[in-house]
Amino acid sequence: MSDPDRPEPGEYDVVVVSNRLPVDRVEEPDGSVSWRSSPGGLVAALEPFMRRTDGAWVGWSGAPGDAPEPFDEHDMHLVGVPLSEGEVAEYYEGFSNATLWPLYHDVIAPPVFHRRWWDVYVQVNRRFAEAAARQASQGATVWVHDYQLQLVPGMLREIRPDLRIGFFDHIPFPGYEIFAQLPWRRQVVEGLLGADLLGFQRGADAANFLRACRRAAGLRTSGSTVRAGDRTVTARAFPISIDTPGFGDLARRDDVQARAKEIREALGDPRHLLLGVDRLDYTKGILHRLKAFGELLDDGRLDVHDTVLVQVASPSRERVEQYQALRDEVEATVGRINGDHGELGHQPVHYLHHSYPKEEMAALYLAADVMLVTSLRDGMNLVAKEFVACRHDETGALVLSEFTGAADELGGAFLINPHDIQGVKDTIVRAVESGEREQRRRMRTMRKRVREHDVSRWASDFLGALDAAGGARDDAGAPGEGGDAATAGDGAAAAPA
Ligand code: G6P
Repeated sequence: MSDPDRPEPGEYDVVVVSNRLPVDRVEEPDGSVSWRSSPGGLVAALEPFMRRTDGAWVGWSGAPGDAPEPFDEHDMHLVGVPLSEGEVAEYYEGFSNATLWPLYHDVIAPPVFHRRWWDVYVQVNRRFAEAAARQASQGATVWVHDYQLQLVPGMLREIRPDLRIGFFDHIPFPGYEIFAQLPWRRQVVEGLLGADLLGFQRGADAANFLRACRRAAGLRTSGSTVRAGDRTVTARAFPISIDTPGFGDLARRDDVQARAKEIREALGDPRHLLLGVDRLDYTKGILHRLKAFGELLDDGRLDVHDTVLVQVASPSRERVEQYQALRDEVEATVGRINGDHGELGHQPVHYLHHSYPKEEMAALYLAADVMLVTSLRDGMNLVAKEFVACRHDETGALVLSEFTGAADELGGAFLINPHDIQGVKDTIVRAVESGEREQRRRMRTMRKRVREHDVSRWASDFLGALDAAGGARDDAGAPGEGGDAATAGDGAAAAPA
């Protein structure tokens, strides 16, 4: 009596769905296949949680073509979703990363709207929803992630109404004036509202979403809830975090500390080592940072003989035009600064277009004196938290953009507006010149925050709230507007304490 529209339940009580699996499939030149850790904050945050959970992770392997058979890797059960070359171009590079990504990051780059890309986005979201439905046991919890999969909650609810569905948005949710540009704004809002609980990085993102519910879909909201048909959906902030104990342990390892020393030596033991670590993305403000650094050398406020900037820019979305243009500009700027200020055997900017394993990252965080995070817009920025988690000696300074989610939490940082180049320059100088006492005072408060609010706390806060929200669904029809006890306050609900 199996109904093709109602797949048989699977065996997993917890299913995570994200565009990417935590590992990418890489074909070596000799034709052999290997797996490499995939980039970005989403995977970095979810992997430690999934390793401890006996659940399935549904996602794309990072390469076009057939999906690999489900496999186990690092204590995780991974289920691949196939994407054809055309789907990679239109769903991933197109609608996800040339339409939604720039739109949601305050149109730093102009978003491109193509009806065909939207159609493929719908088609691929359906495939993810069906794949998740096949893994989830009766009444299971399915946790869907990020902007690539905003229609999955609604589609999943249609095919599996028994499920408890959560969604977490890792990137900003824009103000309505910007979101309203999206020709498919109503469909996106309705897709998301298939979830019982929607999590955002900041209260402001949740408030923006609730406003979109009112304006784009004509729905009524009350506090942090929205009434969608006979269901009440909650939208709240759950700021994401990192595996703080994991980074702390790494940074205490002898080999990692030795590597940190070696890095400083290789750079000529500079007095001031500045560090930037980003995906090569226009949201990260890498050009603003380079401009400020170059001018500080021009002005003589930083001495080229005792200052080095290491910029790790890991390759990202390399076939998307805006990313290619950014790479050219960053590389030309680095070349100009090094040409103007470098000497034989010494260059002020060390630019590394690679991604590195965690051990090397921890060594870089330990080696640095000042960490520079200058994003123009960033959902959270986990690099800032990783730096803090590694600094067990409580030294080092963090220069942090106000436009990151992390800025709401890391009060001990030197905050900047990356558009204010003069302000960035002055703040970099203040951070470079800050004494040990000031650094310790600042670092202590930041370390306390990342210690108390790590990624497992984030996951349990979200899943606990999802349990409670799912409970409200069981009594559907009972509570009206604002009936959810967890939602007192306004739309800009506070992060869990
Ligand atoms: C950000 C996004 C993730 C994405 C990651 C890497 O962290 O929030 O959803 O996976 O960037 O980007 P990519 O396009 O390589 O998956």
